[in-house]
Amino acid sequence: MAEPRPRVWASQPLFGDVVDRLRAHFELEVTPEATDHPPARIAEALADADGALVTLNERIGAAEIARAPRLRAVANVAVGYDNLDVPALSAAGVLVTNTPDVLTETTADLGFALLMAAARRIGESERWLREGRWQGWSFDRLLGVDVHGSTLGILGMGRIGQAIARRGRGFGMRVAYHNRSRLPEAVERELGAVRLSFEALLAEADHLVLVLPYSAATHHIVDAAALARMKPTATLVNIARGGIVDEHALAEALAAGRLAAAGLDVFEGEPAVRPELLALRNVVLTPHIGSASLATRRAMAALAVDNLIAALGAGPQAGRPPNPVNAEAVAAAGRKR
Ligand code: GLV
Repeated sequence: MAEPRPRVWASQPLFGDVVDRLRAHFELEVTPEATDHPPARIAEALADADGALVTLNERIGAAEIARAPRLRAVANVAVGYDNLDVPALSAAGVLVTNTPDVLTETTADLGFALLMAAARRIGESERWLREGRWQGWSFDRLLGVDVHGSTLGILGMGRIGQAIARRGRGFGMRVAYHNRSRLPEAVERELGAVRLSFEALLAEADHLVLVLPYSAATHHIVDAAALARMKPTATLVNIARGGIVDEHALAEALAAGRLAAAGLDVFEGEPAVRPELLALRNVVLTPHIGSASLATRRAMAALAVDNLIAALGAGPQAGRPPNPVNAEAVAAAGRKR
């Protein structure tokens, strides 16, 4: 008898024509409409799945895979994967993949847009105009801070951080960064970027952009003490994950004028946004749209589908998915069993 085809669960519809490519190799169950799945539904869907295509809305850990003996691969349609408990998945022999590179430029665009909007008070200006308050031009209305000629600070100098650095160069900014490891000298030269300590970066940046992965080590790395080191004229942009910033401390600093403005695309409790932030005029808020261009979202879905096909041993890259996250840990767990 022929082996049954592997089963795959797609947690969200994404792009039908892209997700349907999985049907060439697998039995596919696609959630027909964008859905907020409770944990029990995720566990149920994974129970008889060999693979899953998921977004950062789905949190998957030991509890969700406890009854999923066949699960071998989870393809996350995102570059960040803090929605997945990677050690728990690795221990169960489940390969995780993500979607780097294809979203780098689009996400950097949004980071720069938030920087410009925060610095030049664009959200605040627009709200003010729409409220019908513009009765005449005024010399000192809505004065912001300059972007050109200022110091751009980048915390986390991976692919997206470097793409932001290139944008900063184009705007005539001095580029400084902090990263665990120093970039190769040739890359620093090309980007015109200097590496500073975390403390020096906080103190010197006129505009600080957060682009580092979220983990226990980076939880609230920008806390009250870090914010206190920043210039009162500085702006802060977060396009990484909400948990990197202590939002309560940020709201206090913004309200007290200890920081000029912020642009936030991510929030610790998203989709809930703290009322203190919503009440502030000097913060620009967007609903986690960093990679949200049509072309990039299609590219992310396509890459995740390629990863899943290969991770489950099918297609031209069988066994060699382009973006494995935990291949070594899965191999080590396999040896233990
Ligand atoms: C979006 O936040 C991503 O990690 O891709």
